[in-house]
Amino acid sequence: MKYGHFDDTNREYVITNPKTPYPWINYLGNEDFFSLTSNTGGGYTFYKDAKFRRLTRYRYNNVPVDNGGKYFYIKDGDTTWSPGWKPVKTELDSYECRHGMSYTKFKSSKNGVEAQILQFIPLGFWGEIQKVSLKNTSSETKKLKLFSFIEWCLWNAEDDMTNFQRNFSTGEVEIEDSTIYHKTEFKERRNHYAFYSVNTSIDGYDTDRESFLGLYNDFDSPDVVNDGAPKNTIAHGWSPIASHYVEIELKPGEQRDLIFMLGYVEVEKDDKWESKAVINKKPAKAMLAKFDTVEKVDVAYNDLRAYWDRLLGKINIDSGDDRLDRMVNIWNQYQCMVTFNMSRSASFFESGIGRGMGFRDSNQDLIGFVHQIPERARERIFDIASTQFEDGSCYHQYQPLTKKGNSAVGGDFNDDPLWLILSTTEYIKETGDFSLLDEMVPFDNDVSRAKPHFEHLKASFYHVVNNLGPHNLPLIGRADWNDCLNLNCFSDNPNESFQTTGNKKGNTAESLMIAGLFVVYGKEYVKLCKRIDNDKEAEEAQKHVENMIEAVKVHGWDGDWYLRAYDFFGNKIGSNENEEGKIFIESQGWCTMAEIGKKEGMVEKSLNAVKKHLDCDYGIVLNSPAFTKYHIEYGEISTYPAGYKENGGIFCHNNPWIMIGETVLGRGDQAYEYYTKIAPSFLEDISELHKVEPYVYCQMIAGKEAFKPGEAKNSWLSGTASWNFFAITQYILGVKTDYDGLVIDPCIPSKWDGFKMQREFRGAKYNIEVQNPDHVSKGIKTIFVNGSEIESKVVPILEKGKEHSVKVIMG
Ligand code: GLC
Ligand code: GLC
Repeated sequence: MKYGHFDDTNREYVITNPKTPYPWINYLGNEDFFSLTSNTGGGYTFYKDAKFRRLTRYRYNNVPVDNGGKYFYIKDGDTTWSPGWKPVKTELDSYECRHGMSYTKFKSSKNGVEAQILQFIPLGFWGEIQKVSLKNTSSETKKLKLFSFIEWCLWNAEDDMTNFQRNFSTGEVEIEDSTIYHKTEFKERRNHYAFYSVNTSIDGYDTDRESFLGLYNDFDSPDVVNDGAPKNTIAHGWSPIASHYVEIELKPGEQRDLIFMLGYVEVEKDDKWESKAVINKKPAKAMLAKFDTVEKVDVAYNDLRAYWDRLLGKINIDSGDDRLDRMVNIWNQYQCMVTFNMSRSASFFESGIGRGMGFRDSNQDLIGFVHQIPERARERIFDIASTQFEDGSCYHQYQPLTKKGNSAVGGDFNDDPLWLILSTTEYIKETGDFSLLDEMVPFDNDVSRAKPHFEHLKASFYHVVNNLGPHNLPLIGRADWNDCLNLNCFSDNPNESFQTTGNKKGNTAESLMIAGLFVVYGKEYVKLCKRIDNDKEAEEAQKHVENMIEAVKVHGWDGDWYLRAYDFFGNKIGSNENEEGKIFIESQGWCTMAEIGKKEGMVEKSLNAVKKHLDCDYGIVLNSPAFTKYHIEYGEISTYPAGYKENGGIFCHNNPWIMIGETVLGRGDQAYEYYTKIAPSFLEDISELHKVEPYVYCQMIAGKEAFKPGEAKNSWLSGTASWNFFAITQYILGVKTDYDGLVIDPCIPSKWDGFKMQREFRGAKYNIEVQNPDHVSKGIKTIFVNGSEIESKVVPILEKGKEHSVKVIMG
């Protein structure tokens, strides 16, 4: 069953039934100021950091789900309703929610009144706009009562949900004209406040939650709304809210537009007060003046749309299949920008108070947005590299507000350093900007320990070389990419974390996933060294890569697939000899991408084994058979019920590694089949089972051994977004950035006649047309660039500012 449809022309997903199988959300904001918005008006807003600067309150894991948000109540005679359906949940005559690129629109109607809401955050602005339009479509005059509603968060979202003995006494507000100011803690250490306003005179307000709702009422039937009269309360402690009351009379056919604004202000320390106990409202008033008319709001909305036209204009395909085109052209790229902004911090599955920016996560996210915002990608690379140590190891996470490594989470995840080579080389291939290698970048955020960025890559490479185990394979440390494969942890205490507990000496357990990763990015490192004429280093590094290939062939091959690891005792993990967890996806992905033992048939055998043992209707599971009991020597992986998360779930992030592996063999049909199994737009028809948004990737789909195979969780913030974008554009469609141009080498389903891709690259536009007259999956017969045949698969860097035609004949 479907709950809506795609509108590709407008780049929107249109939800037509509010009762989606889970809240389907969107993100507003592109820099500094952000909101999460569900299809029923739920969600919250924050400035920069969802933990430290949360403007509005949101209760996670609430009953019913997604309760609380930015709500409107329309009272029309005896009927009260909400344009987003919730919170009132009155059956609507019509309902539509359109999630677009950084904006959300509602359009619904009840009893001859139509309500439209446009929600967005103007570019470069610290405030959210809600343009609310009410129209009388009946033949009688309507006297409507409109109530707005938000609930303030007392800034620190974690404290706000725990420290009630203090919080219930601190809340403070001010009201002037139509603006409600939230100034809790302003008089002491905070130099910021928030406000909620509307561009018309109001007929009343409320700022005390209990007075507005009634102590025992839910959001669906506030006392004030039921009575149809505000109480004009001023909050003193307890829970401050902001609710405007506006009386609106509409003649038949008449429409009225109101502009609400939720804003955030920072003031200078010595400019905080207007007069005694009265806050300095000048900056807020300036913000309000910026968007006090519909015309001004519409201009800002059009600017936002133009901004997305530019971002999404850089890669565009026409494949003949709308489901694929809308993923590549719209939603997958959009999601990559969201993961750039949020990392893993705030979604409907991430509370915004837990995780900072992950070293490995952020490096991998970069390959999904570097073509859209190369300058910000460059800055991000330096932020990440600054949290590394001289020996190549690094903090596992850092805080976005301070950009400092998080010592509570620590380090020693031995895959971490290598991802810096991925992000850096992909950045250079996209931009041609080698200069970042020479920039001075600190170690451990200490400027006195800065070295050229290249030295960070070198440190990353040698961190593996210097940490090999008994089989000359990389030591795993706390864990590798799979956070839950904790081979040095041995935890029998439920009160400790698998991520930070390491009570065994970590000098035996080895990872085949890191081995493959090292060969892939070791080769990249060698290639880069050659490019910058550092042949000596290239030669030296090449030896280590070859040694690793040898070690994998000798100690990492199980007969039909690559092993996953050696445990603390030197026993095999991911071997046919094991009872559970005989085969794992990560080492098959990385060792096949690295082409280890390709000549000897290992790559082909490994991928055939993946098909046989790990593939299922909904994607490729992480391991099989899933663990059914706790193996203390494996750690968290064996704590999950079989079929979920890292224990036999379809952990979507790693599926594209197998797709890319398949392209090494030229098996385009298989690569694409794997792609379609997890690409959300292909799952729209099974939304009831899949549950989460059909327009974005999720982290995990329950695997074949789960209670409910196919049911998904953890949508939005996942490395799945960048890796799938990378796999489909660069390996399946096969237009790959490289130092000297675009390498064209598609690996597509043989039944395809071809496809078109427009790609902006180094300032020029490449109009690529791939034809597949012989219906092959891989192989190039000829490439014509602007009409002339070229010799190789590399389309060179062409004249800037111009369009160029690239015609590719496969065969
Ligand atoms: C989560 C983490 C990521 C990790 C993955 C597998 O997505 O953010 O760092 O690699 O889980 O455990
Ligand atoms: C990864 C895993 C998750 C685990 C977390 C620990 O994200 O997916 O299950 O709890 O790492 O940080």
